[in-house]
Parts: sequence; structure tokens; C-alpha cells
Amino acid sequence: MSDEAPLLDTLRSICGDAAVLTGGDMAAYATDWRDMFHGKPLCVVRPAETAEVAQCVAACAETGTAIVPQGGNTGLAGGATPDDSGTQVIVALDRMTAIRRIDPVGMTIEVEAGAILQTVKDAAGDENRLLPISLAAEGSARIGGLIATNAGGVDVLRYGMTRGLVLGLEVVLPDGQILSRLRHLRKDNAGYDLKQLFIGTEGTLGIVTAAVLRLVPQPRHRATALIAVPDIASAIALYARAQDEVGEALSAFELISGAGLDLVAEHMGQTAPVTADWVLLIEAGSSLPSLREAAEKLLETAFEEGWATDGVLAESEAQADALWQLRESLTEAEGKAGGAIKHDISVPITGIAAFLQEAGNMLRAVAPEAKFNVFGHLGDGNLHYNVMNVTREDAAKVNAAVHDVVAAHHGSISAEHGLGQYRVAEWARLASQPEHDLTRRIKDALDPDGLINPGKVVPKRG
Ligand code: FAD
Ligand code: MLT
Ligand code: ZN
Repeated sequence: MSDEAPLLDTLRSICGDAAVLTGGDMAAYATDWRDMFHGKPLCVVRPAETAEVAQCVAACAETGTAIVPQGGNTGLAGGATPDDSGTQVIVALDRMTAIRRIDPVGMTIEVEAGAILQTVKDAAGDENRLLPISLAAEGSARIGGLIATNAGGVDVLRYGMTRGLVLGLEVVLPDGQILSRLRHLRKDNAGYDLKQLFIGTEGTLGIVTAAVLRLVPQPRHRATALIAVPDIASAIALYARAQDEVGEALSAFELISGAGLDLVAEHMGQTAPVTADWVLLIEAGSSLPSLREAAEKLLETAFEEGWATDGVLAESEAQADALWQLRESLTEAEGKAGGAIKHDISVPITGIAAFLQEAGNMLRAVAPEAKFNVFGHLGDGNLHYNVMNVTREDAAKVNAAVHDVVAAHHGSISAEHGLGQYRVAEWARLASQPEHDLTRRIKDALDPDGLINPGKVVPKRG
């Protein structure tokens, strides 16, 4: 049990009185983006620099107080929300926003963990470079949170997950030590790649305070198309052809259901120029002027082969942005329509049609009234198989039904959002004994007292 009042005084002495929030001032930090998880923290502390983070962590360790790291609080798995015990301290990185250094020749950028993704992308863009992480929450998500969740998004197809973009990392360990490996290196095989312990582990092994990220050239041209497809098999055939025709320039291959477009029209007032049961949003980017020609040829082929029934190729940047607006509004529209049980699943892309068929059949049996908002990163085999209109009592059955189909396809029940507290029980149900054992051993080795983000990712003991 922690000794609370002296700890608050210590945190104030480290970060200053104004940086320690209590009572109603904590509201925005205590609930997640979806308003699904509601915590009751002891306080929120907002350090201004790495040394302050380290001192706060050491002070919490000394008093046996649990910590919940928080970035932009846009996570979809409840990983940044504390429990309701009133004893946990949220360490918010939102004052550590510096962009320390950008190297347009070495193609790297060094930033503090609290920097907002959009701000970092803008800074890279000023140097004609791109930080290729793109997601609808990029105006709020912060670098530390993106690294901690190994965020995906709509550009993974071309550039990979966040993990592959992290060259160097600075982390405060659970005992307050600072592990600093802020290297601007593409190659570094000297010993274990320790930074990997903190990427995608959702703040359960340490607090990321700064990072060096890899940049790529900013493509000068982009081709963006919204295309109606008759069925999923046609979408997959078109995907394979797109790989042949536009190759490495292909950056996004997104699937949206007609039901999702209806939600966006109803709740966000945005109307799609093309609609059908299934629609694709495809984008390619290149600095070579021949891109548009290649995109036009691909569309021509799609119509000839019967893989497309309707479609538009954006004629301007504004039109391309408007197409993306439809895609990026899906999550907000879903929330306005009452929310959904989210299943962030992935299976090999060639199994997507069978997955949809089998999961649909299962759900017709366990939740006949269910409605669907299915969309996602088809090119990555990652769908957001979101189920709406389900009673609280049926939620567990729905989760099990969907995840059992995922398991039968050797897929993942969290392709990009992480486990947080939302999916930890389902992971525990489906993971093998060696996975359980090794996960527990890693957690215990780094955080023997279980004080860093307890209850997230790693199932509770016993
Ligand atoms: P938070 O929500 O604050 O935290 C997320 C997790 O990381 C928590 O476990 C937290 O404890 C931990 N954490 C945060 N900061 C640190 C730190 N400095 N050190 C250690 N641990 C830390 N995700 C995708 O992958 N792809 C998408 O396409 C996508 N689209 C989204 C669209 C919308 C509209 C929304 C609301 C969310 C979306 N997300 C998506 C989820 C979310 O944006 C990402 O998970 C993002 O990476 C979270 O960043 P954050 O700064 O908000 O982290
Ligand atoms: C997306 O792809 O838009 C996100 O992962 C958000 C979501 O799943 O709602
Ligand atoms: Zn996604």
C-alpha cells in the first residue's frame, strides 16, 4: 500500500506544483478516447524532461506505487487508463514535445515522446521528408504512444509498422534508471536490440521519453482512387494486380463496407462518390511522373476483368483528401452511432474472404441482431471487424466467436491496437503455455514489483 500524501509532495518537488493534477483536473486523463474505460488515478504528473520522468518513477518505486504511462490517450485498448483504486499515478508525456534534431541527409528525426505525430510529420515535410505513419488519430497521438503500441495505420503496406521506423530509443526503466540509446544508425548489431523490449509492449516495461525515427523521401505525386468491387475475391485479385502494376509505389489498400459509408454519411455528413457493399480506397505515391499512367492502367484492367463496378480516380489533391476524409471518419461515425465491439484482427490476406464468411455465420447464430462496421487495411490482411447492436450479455460470446475463427486461420486478435486491458483476457485464453511463461518471465525480469502499467498486456497472476 502506498503512502500517498508524501508521494504527492515529492512529485510536486520534482516537477513543480502545476505539473501535478488531482481531483477534477484529471478528468481528461482518466477516461479513454472511446469513453469505455473509466479510471480513478491518485494523480496525474506531467514531467517536462527525461530526468524528471526518471525521478518520478524512482519516487513511485520507493513507495510501491503503480504507474500508468500516457501519451495522446487515443489508444483503442484501454492501455493508458488506470484502474479505479485511486492509487495509480498517470505519468503523462504531454509536456515533452520537443523536436530535437532533423537530419534530411541521414533521413532521421529525433523527438521527445510527447511530440504529436502530425507536428513531427509537418517538421519532416518541411525538409521534403516523410515520417510514414498515417492514422486518423495523428492530430492527437504522440510518438511515445505510437512506439509503445507499435502503431500500424494506412501506410503499413509500403513502409511497415512503427517498429521498423525506430532507430534509437530513450527509456526510463521501472527502477528509475535511464536507458539511452538515441542512435541515428541504420545498422547496429552490437548486442541485444534492447529497444525492441519497449516497442509494442504498451508501457508495461518502461516509459519511452525520446526516440530517433527513420524518415523516407516525400513522394511528389500521389494517385488516389475509390473503387466499388463486386465481392472480396475481386478485391484480392485487384490487390495482386496492383502489386504488379504499381509495385513498391502502392502505399494503401483499404477496404470499407457500404454500411460504414452509410454511418459516415449519417453521422459526419460526408457522402461518398461511389458506393457498394464493398469499396476500396487505394493510394500509390511516387516521385516519378509516370505514376498516374500506371494508376489509370490499373483501373482500366480492373473494369475489364470485372473486379470493379464503379470508381473515381482523384483529379486533385483536394479530391484525394476528401476520399481519405471518408475513411478517416469511420471510427468517429461508429462512436456517434453508439459504438461497437472492436475486433482488430489479421489473417493471411488470402484467407480474408473465408474469414468474413465464417465469422458472419458464427455471429448469425450467437447475435442475430448484430450490425457490422467492417473496414481496415486489407492489403495487410488486417480488418477492423466491428460488431454493433450487441447486448452487454452477448459481448463475450461475440468476442469468442470472432476470435475462434481468427485462431482457426492462424491469425492475430490484435493486429495493431495492442491488448491493453481490452483484449488481455482473450489473449490469455488463446495463447500457448510457452507464450504465457515467456511473457511473464520478461515482465518479472524488468518490472519485478509489477508497478509499470499493471493489468495491461500481461495477465494478472493466478
Ligand atoms: P496512448 O493512448 O496515450 O497510450 C497507448 C498505450 O501506450 C498505453 O498502453 C500507454 O500506457 C502506452 N504509452 C503511451 N505513451 C507511452 C510512453 N511514452 N512510454 C511507454 N508507454 C506509453 N492505431 C493503429 O495502430 N492504426 C490505426 O489506423 C489507428 N487509427 C486510429 C484512429 C482513431 C480515430 C483513434 C482514436 C485511434 C486510432 N488508433 C490506431 C489507435 C491509437 O491512435 C494508437 O494506438 C496510437 O499509437 C496511440 O498513441 P497515444 O499517444 O494516443 O497513446
Ligand atoms: C483505423 O484503421 O481507422 C483504426 O485502426 C481505428 C479503428 O479501428 O477504429
Ligand atoms: Zn486500423
